[in-house]
Amino acid sequence: MIKENLFLCMGSACHQLGVYEVLPKLQSLIRDCELEDTIELKGSFCLETCSHGIVMKFHDTFVTNVSAQNVEAKFRQEILPAIQNSRAKV
Ligand code: FES
Repeated sequence: MIKENLFLCMGSACHQLGVYEVLPKLQSLIRDCELEDTIELKGSFCLETCSHGIVMKFHDTFVTNVSAQNVEAKFRQEILPAIQNSRAKV
């Protein structure tokens, strides 16, 4: 199966906001949801939404204002449905 990319911005603004605390949480969420075979987590250059906090992106879905505290909720509410939608289309 071809993996789909989930991007986490590693640009300087997101870096300053603490993306390195978000990263391990996102990695364990992907493991917990058993998505390791479907989703490839990738660091990305600036996604150009710097004024909206840390951002992750899956296809056309941008999730902004991510923090270590809210990453789980945002992942489950916004990223997971997008992943399921995209798999339904395959
Ligand atoms: S540095 Fe992350 S959106 Fe610009």
